[in-house]
Amino acid sequence: MKRICIIGISGKLGQYMAEHALSLGYGVNCVCRPESVHKLARFGDRITPFPGRTDSRPTIARAVRGCDGILTVLAPWGVENYASGTASAVLDFAEPDARTIFSCGWHISRDGKDRYSLKLKAFVSLFGALARLLRMVDLKDQVRATNMIFASDRLWTVVRGSDLEVGESEGLPVWSRHVGDPVLASNLTRRTEFALFMVHALTDDRLIHEAPAIVGRASASARRHSARAGSVPA
Ligand SMILES: NC(=O)c1ccc[n+]([C@@H]2O[C@H](COP(=O)([O-])OP(=O)(O)OC[C@H]3O[C@@H](n4cnc5c(N)ncnc54)[C@H](OP(=O)(O)O)[C@@H]3O)[C@@H](O)[C@H]2O)c1
Repeated sequence: MKRICIIGISGKLGQYMAEHALSLGYGVNCVCRPESVHKLARFGDRITPFPGRTDSRPTIARAVRGCDGILTVLAPWGVENYASGTASAVLDFAEPDARTIFSCGWHISRDGKDRYSLKLKAFVSLFGALARLLRMVDLKDQVRATNMIFASDRLWTVVRGSDLEVGESEGLPVWSRHVGDPVLASNLTRRTEFALFMVHALTDDRLIHEAPAIVGRASASARRHSARAGSVPA
């Protein structure tokens, strides 16, 4: 992996991913909204920004050209198909052999076999309805985006994040194919570890065409159960 592109780099997850990618010596192209380029000042000339909305097809086409891997923050902003527009542009313009890694939350299900707590179901249903009503966020569009990815023959991985917290990294999160697996019960991952897993997925062939749900490796449930879960070794 020589050069990658981070789509949506200016947010929290994006900036952590940039730190991890640069520490591995990757060249980093990136896309963020023009008004957010200033948030990247600390990276200086170590990154190459392509200012634009992440669903702008011409911007994505230019930014991903020549990249071996693409890390996409899939965010369902607004009610104009922002997440599905972003996913579609990345899938259409990625180089044929590029690894494409997308972020989302546990609420996304690939095969309908995830078992959700009542709390999560209630949150998704209430927050989803309210945010859609206010025209701020469209969770259903994130579902459309991931369904498009799951149906694609690209070399994709969809990383499903648990609840997030800030803190020093305790290492690569562990993962399972299904929410409801006891290894995930703690439902907590540090933001920098989420980013670490995204970057790790670029080069772990076992994660191609997988939708890992992740949890911090130092969390109580991971320590109790990771030995017998489909977890990534340290
Ligand atoms: N937050 C959680 O608790 C949580 C939990 C599990 C999974 N996730 C997943 O983690 C990923 C990142 O989530 P995050 O909460 O950590 O967010 P984040 O890293 O802060 O990223 C938000 C991204 O959305 C952009 N953005 C913000 N407002 C926008 C708007 N109105 N229109 C277009 N773009 C806008 C930001 O760009 P600007 O810098 O330009 O504003 C940034 O690139 C998502 O895929 C999410 O599904 C989050």
